Amino acid sequence: MEGHLRKNGDTGGFAYHLGNAWNRTPVSLPLLLEITGPVTIAIDIHLDRLFNGAEPLQIAANPSTHSRKGDEIAQLLKNRIPSAFSVREIRQARPPAPADPPAPGNLVGTPYRFRLARGFPIPELPTDPPLTNEGVALGKRLFHDPLLSVTTKQSCSSCHQIAHALSDSRRFSEGASGSLGTRNAMPLFNLAWKDSFFWDGRAPSLRVQALQPIQNPIEMHESLPNAIAKLKTANYGPLFQAAFGTAGITEERLGIALEQFLLTKTSYRSRFDQAARGEGELTDQEKRGFELFMTEYDPRRGLKGADCFHCHGGAFFTDHRFHNNGLRDDEDRGLESVTGRPTDRNRFITPSLRNIALTAPYMHDGRFQTLEAVINHYNSGLHRSSTLDPNLAKHPPEGLGLGREDRTALVAFLKTLTDPQFLPTAKTGN
Ligand code: HEC
Ligand code: HEC
Repeated sequence: MEGHLRKNGDTGGFAYHLGNAWNRTPVSLPLLLEITGPVTIAIDIHLDRLFNGAEPLQIAANPSTHSRKGDEIAQLLKNRIPSAFSVREIRQARPPAPADPPAPGNLVGTPYRFRLARGFPIPELPTDPPLTNEGVALGKRLFHDPLLSVTTKQSCSSCHQIAHALSDSRRFSEGASGSLGTRNAMPLFNLAWKDSFFWDGRAPSLRVQALQPIQNPIEMHESLPNAIAKLKTANYGPLFQAAFGTAGITEERLGIALEQFLLTKTSYRSRFDQAARGEGELTDQEKRGFELFMTEYDPRRGLKGADCFHCHGGAFFTDHRFHNNGLRDDEDRGLESVTGRPTDRNRFITPSLRNIALTAPYMHDGRFQTLEAVINHYNSGLHRSSTLDPNLAKHPPEGLGLGREDRTALVAFLKTLTDPQFLPTAKTGN
């Protein structure tokens, strides 16, 4: 729940956070089920029962931005939650007829063993078709193959280099035909948990996304029919046959194979993760940085943190949502260019901060060369506009006032998020 509150015309904001992953309220809905196969259960949440109930909640009267012990709103919400859910529908899938031949788009082959951290939620992987070793191997080869570009000199991996967590070290990458892009290349990991792609979220799936750089004139600048003709002469036929069960190289299959490879890129073995499991220790400075990162800026309650966790919190160090984080950009409107809504102006997807030490320069336009420059931005460089995120707009005009030691501690903490297993020196087969 977020909004702008200040009455004197200043851009200000408030946010009230309803809950988080480490403070769950279990809800049980008793059901009688006779299960003979996969079942889908649709659950409704009734927000009216939650917020209005017997009497509407008085959010604005609440002095704090987060629920704490003794907070009345939190208690009320907790009481109402069990009655706010209901089961809408129970659907049982028909078991597939055993003699069906594989449909043309269906993967055949060996199921791929997807690796993830214990603390990560189970991602929704595609089932049409599911990941297989053959599909992933094909996608990996395509990802590294310069044949997909007009000059046959540039591959996906030209801009998505493993030494930089599958991004590059340039502000804007150069396309196959020599033109410069306008956005910073994004690192590629933990994509299985995202539901939109690119800085402005314009691609709804990886299979759709993966075909775009091939055709983009400022990237690989090739047409799909040409790319496919080249793959046919380069003997890709048997690899597509192994992955898809039937012969044929199509646009759809090209997208699916690249998607299969991209989905397998998971990263979760940083020093921070090890320390969280008790298999190592962070230094005092790194711990201080983490504390600042996770602490609210709310001087009325004696809290003077750096307030990063609102958007970069959780196992992925991103909320996977779009925010305006106070960068002035008069040309690139971000999410607004996709939705057409002025309220989305300059909102961009929150990047994960995992592997952040490897992916300089920073932000959608690579404007900051160093993490120190990023911290200075949040500390005292916010550009105020009507779409500035409320969690930043609530900071005082003079900034957070983090001293040099605190800023250094934040950077030290961010560097603990590098995953050495994701790098080419580790034998992970990247
Ligand atoms: C010329 C450099 C370049 C090449 C070549 C390139 N990319 Fe990218 N990639 C980028 C840039 C820049 C972005 C961000 C673009 C934007 O947001 O508009 C990006 C974004 C992405 C994303 C979105 C990630 C996310 O978290 O939303 C994926 C996935 C991706 N690229 C995959 C690929 C694949 C697959 C290929 C090869 C078919 C490829 N890229 C080729 C530069 C490149
Ligand atoms: C209101 C949400 C929000 C808050 C709070 C926030 N960030 Fe961000 N952060 C973002 C968004 C959105 C971007 C991408 C913006 C862009 O490129 O236009 C970003 C980008 C970054 C980047 C660059 C990532 C990259 O791959 O280029 C770093 C580093 C970063 N933030 C660190 C922090 C730190 C440290 C804090 C706390 C001091 C913080 N952020 C607070 C939303 C937020």
